[in-house]
Formats: sequence, C-alpha cells, structure tokens
Amino acid sequence: MQTVEVLIEVNNLKKYFRVGRNAFVKAVDDVSFNICKGETLGLVGESGCGKTTCGKTILGLYSTTDGEVIFDGVNIHALRPNEKTEFTKRAQIIFQDPYSSLNPRMTVGDIIGEGMDIHHLYKGKEREEKVFELLNTVGLNKEHVNRFPHEFSGGQRQRIGIARALAIEPDFIVCDEPISALDVSIQAQIVNLLMELQRSKDLTYLFIAHNLSMIKYISDRVGVMYLGNLVELTTSAELYDNPLHPYTRALLSAIPIPDPQEERRKQRITLHGEIPSSINPPPGCRFASRCQFAKEICTRAMPPLVEVDKEHFVACHLARQF
Ligand SMILES: Nc1ncnc2c1ncn2[C@@H]1O[C@H](COP(=O)(O)OP(=O)(O)OP(=O)(O)O)[C@@H](O)[C@H]1O
Ligand SMILES: [Mg+2]
Repeated sequence: MQTVEVLIEVNNLKKYFRVGRNAFVKAVDDVSFNICKGETLGLVGESGCGKTTCGKTILGLYSTTDGEVIFDGVNIHALRPNEKTEFTKRAQIIFQDPYSSLNPRMTVGDIIGEGMDIHHLYKGKEREEKVFELLNTVGLNKEHVNRFPHEFSGGQRQRIGIARALAIEPDFIVCDEPISALDVSIQAQIVNLLMELQRSKDLTYLFIAHNLSMIKYISDRVGVMYLGNLVELTTSAELYDNPLHPYTRALLSAIPIPDPQEERRKQRITLHGEIPSSINPPPGCRFASRCQFAKEICTRAMPPLVEVDKEHFVACHLARQF
C-alpha cells in the first residue's frame, strides 16, 4: 500500500473578522483537517460559509485568530517575514473570477512572469522561454504574450490565471471556485487541465466549490462547511454513497441527475428556516435552525466532528439516527 504523506495540517483554525466594537464575523470557527501530498481536497458549502477565508488563511494571506497551519512541518503563521518567501513560493492561489483577478494594465507575459521576478527565478531569454512554455502548458500560445487580459475570453483568462500560479513551480494550489464564473461548456476543459497538471506536476489542491456536482470528479476527499464549521469530511465516494450530515444530504439532493426518470423519482430536500448570522452565532449546531431532525440538544451544544467510520467524520448529534 502507498504511504500517505501529509502536506498540510490545519489544526483548530479560527479566523474572526471584527465588524463592530464587540462584534465578530466568525468566518472560520475551529476547523481541523489534513491535506495529503498529491491529493485534491474539495471544500464545499453555500456562499458566505467561510471557504475563501479558510483557503486564504491556509496560504497565510490572512493572519489567524487562533489555531495553526502546518505546511510540510512548518507553522506558517509563526514564520518571520524573510522566512515567508520560501513558503509563498510553494503555495499559490487561482481565483474565482478571471475577470477581476488579472491586472488589466499588464500584458499576459508580465502577469505570468511577475512571480518569477519576485522570486528571482529566471531572467532575460530564459524567462521568456519559460513564459512561452507555460502558455503552451495551459493551452494558449506565444502570440498571446503581449496581449492584455481584456482581449481574452473567460476560459482563456482562467488559463492565464493558472499559468500565473504555475510560474513559480508550487507544490500546493488553492483553487478558489476556478470554474464557477465560466460557461458550463468551458468548465470541463478547465477542470481537465487542472487534473492533468496535477498528475504531470505532482500538485496538491484545495479545491473550493459552491456545490457538489463537479467536485465529485475532482476530489479525493471532500469537506463540507456550514457557517464557519466543518460538518462532514470523508472520501468523495463515501460522501456521495453515504452522506451522514443532513446539510450534506440537502446539497446532494440539489444535483440534477441526467436520467429524467431517476430525476423524477429523486426526493429533493428543500431547506427551510433562517440561516443564523455568522456575527456572534448561537450556541449549539449552526445548522439546527434549518434541520428537520433537530432536537433539543442540537440548539444547546455544538456537535464535535467525530470519526464515525474509517475516514468518515461528521459533526451531528443525531448522525445515523435518521
Ligand atoms: N475582510 C472581511 N471582513 C469582514 N468580513 C469578512 C471579510 N471577508 C469575509 N468576511 C465574511 O466572512 C464570511 C465568510 O466569507 P468567505 O468569503 O470566506 O465565504 P465563502 O464561503 O468563500 O463565500 P462565497 O461562496 O460567496 O465565495 C462571510 O460572512 C463574509 O461576509
Ligand atoms: Mg469564496
């Protein structure tokens, strides 16, 4: 059996944003998980549940409120500024919106080459060759090098974003909803490109998405977030075959099935009830107000994330009881 090496350990991570004198948005609230070398960990949940904040805090783009992120044995939030450069070279991000994430005043060549300059990787002719090579890798060509972002389609822009992330030869990339702003027909191309790059360059991904439909094909394991908490974490196959958290079940029921007969038979779970505010959220399970199974304990005590089966973690007082 292959040994699994952990690349990133996220331990009890908290990121609160102050929004008033005594008010905090608890965007990420005590989240723990590992990401193994070469794996894709999917992170899903509805808008505002804390996915981007989690990704950015893991990359050190945000400081932590509490908890730690260990990258290849090193606590990245404890690094001194001069030690940080080595880490930033190894970890990159691809953004959700290819329209706003590329500087409109820079040419494609400079967008891709910027990271190489910052990290003093290549100069002159070698830099130019590297940029051409990267354009080729992501399915563009060297004629594109002097053009500006507005001259490209959304899919092409996302390819530029991917080339920019690859330019400094990272080990780990946070893909923050890299396909959600694209046409459905283009989404599969970008996903295939990312998966191909993962194989050829031995990359590790944290892949963030809104819903579970595409993430199944991309991820080895999937974490489901709800209002700053991780509510379920397991392998992709197990999550789809045996979802245990009522919120995961609702997310899964929203995926359309291509077979019309199956689709008609399927029970869609519609969530009712208010989403509590992430500013000073109530005690207990944050999903309780929308959960059809909620009992008294659910509003009183926060359920811990526990391993109920091998590699299957869930945070629900009533898991397996419904
Ligand atoms: N800089 C900030 N200051 C204050 N609050 C913030 C800040 N960034 C994010 N938040 C809040 O933290 C919560 C989590 O936001 P985040 O962007 O991480 O969610 P998300 O899951 O990525 O959502 P989406 O799917 O819409 O991208 C939200 O309530 C958001 O309003
Ligand atoms: Mg986001």
